[in-house]
Amino acid sequence: MKFFIDTANLDQIKEAQDMGILDGVTTNPSLMAKEGIFGDEKVKQHYVDICNIVDGDVSAEVISTDFDGMVREGEILAALHEQIVVKIPMIKDGIKAIKYFSSKGIKTNCTLIFSAGQALLAAKAGATYVSPFLGRLDDVSTDGLNLIDEMRTIYDNYFFETEILAASIRHPMHIIDCAKIGADVMTGPLSAITALLNHPLTDLGLAKFLEDHAKNK
Ligand code: E4P
Repeated sequence: MKFFIDTANLDQIKEAQDMGILDGVTTNPSLMAKEGIFGDEKVKQHYVDICNIVDGDVSAEVISTDFDGMVREGEILAALHEQIVVKIPMIKDGIKAIKYFSSKGIKTNCTLIFSAGQALLAAKAGATYVSPFLGRLDDVSTDGLNLIDEMRTIYDNYFFETEILAASIRHPMHIIDCAKIGADVMTGPLSAITALLNHPLTDLGLAKFLEDHAKNK
């Protein structure tokens, strides 16, 4: 399972990269705004800065909602760095744009996926990644994990190469449940990733080992 971090915060990206377990980054316009990154040039430079920290794919989202605009923006984003993946919303023109980029060999991430039908369309268009929003479904009392399960079945039935990128992860159990279902990638905040480290028995056990070792001196 690939681990992506879902943030535009450079310090958090560096921290996850330093752990040696980071496979990529996802961003969105809200995450960029949270870091105070506004304006075309600043946004583009920030994507390059992120690419220079990590080794893997970095999703950069288009703002346009029409085919021509998405193609124009996506081509500019893809030209910034070889690690850029063009992130495109699940709308009709978005599907057309994914098909276009797929035919040009440019990687895409279809975002804002909330149903199996949307996930099927995005895979048919040739998306590299498709992002079901687990946490946002859970927020409206709908089983987000069930969607990921449905996607796994559908993609396996037809040998789609599209990767399931479980997004809107909120806590470590989301990551574990996605791994059990077989999501190809998860993207979550640093807090959910580092929470995987923790167990009180590990802390107690380590304290005891160190205490016993100290007695031998
Ligand atoms: C996915 O790529 C999105 O950036 C993200 O996972 C959305 O998460 P949220 O629901 O916590 O905003």
